[in-house]
Amino acid sequence: MASWTAIVLFLSAALASTSQFTTAAITPSLSTWTSCGSGLDCAKLTVPLEYADASSHETATIPLVRFNATAAVRKGSILVNPGGPGASGVAFVSAGAGQSISVITGGEYDIIGFDPRGVGGAEPKFACFANAGDEYDFNSAFPAGANLWIGAFANATERKAVASSMKDFDTAAANLAAACLKQNSKALFTSSASYVVRDMASIVDALDGPGAKLNYWGFSYGPIFGVEFIQTFPNRVGRIVLDGVYDAAANAQTYVSQLPNDQISVRNAIKDFAQLCFEAGPSACTFAGASTSAADIEARFDALHKTAFRTPVVASGVPISSSILSSFLWNFFTVPPTWPLVSALIAGLEAGDASALLNVLVTSAGSAPANRSAPAVGLRSLSSMGLTCVDNAPTNLVPLMYVQNLVANLTVAQQTPWLGADLGVLSFCRNFGSKRPKLPNVGVSKITDTDCLLAEHNTTILIVNGIHDSSTPLKSAQHLRTMLPRSSRIATRGGPGHTTISFPSLGLAKTVANYFRTGALPPDGAFYPSDMVVFPKNTTLSVAPSTPTFNGTSYSDSDRAILNAAYGIVLAFIAIA
Ligand SMILES: *[C@@H]1O[C@H](CO)[C@@H](O)[C@H](O)[C@H]1NC(C)=O
Ligand SMILES: *[C@@H]1O[C@H](CO)[C@@H](O)[C@H](O)[C@H]1NC(C)=O
Ligand SMILES: *[C@@H]1O[C@H](CO)[C@@H](O)[C@H](O)[C@H]1NC(C)=O
Ligand SMILES: *[C@@H]1O[C@H](CO)[C@@H](O)[C@H](O)[C@H]1NC(C)=O
Ligand SMILES: *[C@@H]1O[C@H](CO)[C@@H](O)[C@H](O)[C@H]1NC(C)=O
Ligand SMILES: *[C@@H]1O[C@H](CO)[C@@H](O)[C@H](O)[C@H]1NC(C)=O
Ligand SMILES: *[C@@H]1O[C@H](CO)[C@@H](O)[C@H](O)[C@H]1NC(C)=O
Repeated sequence: MASWTAIVLFLSAALASTSQFTTAAITPSLSTWTSCGSGLDCAKLTVPLEYADASSHETATIPLVRFNATAAVRKGSILVNPGGPGASGVAFVSAGAGQSISVITGGEYDIIGFDPRGVGGAEPKFACFANAGDEYDFNSAFPAGANLWIGAFANATERKAVASSMKDFDTAAANLAAACLKQNSKALFTSSASYVVRDMASIVDALDGPGAKLNYWGFSYGPIFGVEFIQTFPNRVGRIVLDGVYDAAANAQTYVSQLPNDQISVRNAIKDFAQLCFEAGPSACTFAGASTSAADIEARFDALHKTAFRTPVVASGVPISSSILSSFLWNFFTVPPTWPLVSALIAGLEAGDASALLNVLVTSAGSAPANRSAPAVGLRSLSSMGLTCVDNAPTNLVPLMYVQNLVANLTVAQQTPWLGADLGVLSFCRNFGSKRPKLPNVGVSKITDTDCLLAEHNTTILIVNGIHDSSTPLKSAQHLRTMLPRSSRIATRGGPGHTTISFPSLGLAKTVANYFRTGALPPDGAFYPSDMVVFPKNTTLSVAPSTPTFNGTSYSDSDRAILNAAYGIVLAFIAIA
């Protein structure tokens, strides 16, 4: 009798929760598409805010933009994600990446940009302040990073100064973490990768039919969503390209595991800069100056950091500290087509005139909100730290002294001068507490099973990476390749630049195109050189040249169209940076 009662109770409880589920669960719904720019249509997808709570009525909205297929026969959709986390896929596709990716992939797919949870126009906003004015003020006062240079760790006085600068930066990040927790936006604990990939599945359902497969080109942080998706929906894997790979295994742990990966290839990229600058000479690369070797250029480049640390050049009252210099160089080094400008700016700095450098920094800083009492917008520069943190394991028990020792060790071992500018997530997360979203990320916990399932279905992911990528080193891409031994291939692109597209290569672009169009795979480990001249002759300085220079001698018209389209993606990246 006792067990019978228990069964009845169990059944009624189950029925109650079923009926509650069917009446209350939010069914994703797509708004009508409306024109939103040349060749573009926009819509919004309404999805459940909290996938872990089937009884919740709350919703999130995900903005979408579509660049239509141009070929006679449409094969489906390719979703794209420009990374960050925090970069808007809608802005990216609208800024020309949609058309460019369409050209590269033969016009057979609709190219779809979306703003992931907590990003761009997605609602609710990942905002940490009560209004736009407070948010802007906080962002303007937020330091670029901690001051350091490589040699500082061999000098007791300077080592102390670095530790103190790291403490100041950590305090600023702690203030941000506290503000985010206090504001407690509905996006704060509902924007991790596990939520984003469920939204992606709903986008595919809405666009290509229920249960259709995902085709995806994810850049930089985009591979985190790709890796989460394939483990969550292994039966829905279409053609997936992971480009400029952020290490998903490290990302599932504390940021202390990610930091050692971040800048492994920075020294290679600096050597590439010095070599290409030396070969181009001072007429094309201003910083070449009177140097008679690439090694000399590299030494002068390193000396800039020492000067910025010890006796910063001041422009309009602003000292160009090593944290400002590092954050500028770390960002611009990801895109080699900006290097002619970078070389001119640092030549000015070396000569004691940082006015042009300051102008570029001020221009990219964004302007004050017109209405200070309008709601906060969830500025990307601030939200990116929180968005990464909720994807990481709790980091709150990591002591600051451990971080200081880690930075000292990595800076010297990797000969990177820029770790001071890379501390945002670690410092934020150290001060953020241990609460995480209700629906945990898979991380890489199902990667081995996923590899088997994909291999059984003859489904192969294409991993691509630059060999000297200063933000997502080849090592991280190779790590992912080894985690998917039977269901992935890797192809590489020569030279520096973050993601393969930042330094266009015809061979690599065609490889990606063939994969999307026919499923054809390159030989594992295939290598393709870049085709771009970094320091062209007679260039007019702008952030990046409007017309790229390629070094091949016999491109067909269609090859040239692919290269120009690849460069169009670079310009879109720059436009949304
Ligand atoms: C894209 O295709 C859809 C469906 O055919 C059509 O309704 C829409 O007008 C097209 N958009 C543009 C910008 O051409
Ligand atoms: C150590 O750092 C201090 C402060 O920057 C500097 O004055 C001193 O010359 C450095 N010592 C050496 C040996 O470089
Ligand atoms: C500024 O934003 C507030 C809050 O949204 C709003 O009430 C007010 O009308 C806005 N002022 C102007 C001039 O738009
Ligand atoms: C830094 O390097 C020292 C010496 O090799 C080592 O003892 C220490 O554990 C390292 N600390 C961190 C945080 O990596
Ligand atoms: C697996 O896919 C590849 C690439 O699409 C194709 O060449 C091959 O024939 C497929 N093999 C099987 C057994 O279906
Ligand atoms: C073009 O330049 C890149 C580096 O910028 C180099 O790796 C590649 O070999 C060059 N290609 C040709 C055909 O010269
Ligand atoms: C560069 O500009 C100069 C002067 O305008 C011109 O004489 C020269 O031919 C140009 N060189 C190239 C490679 O375009």
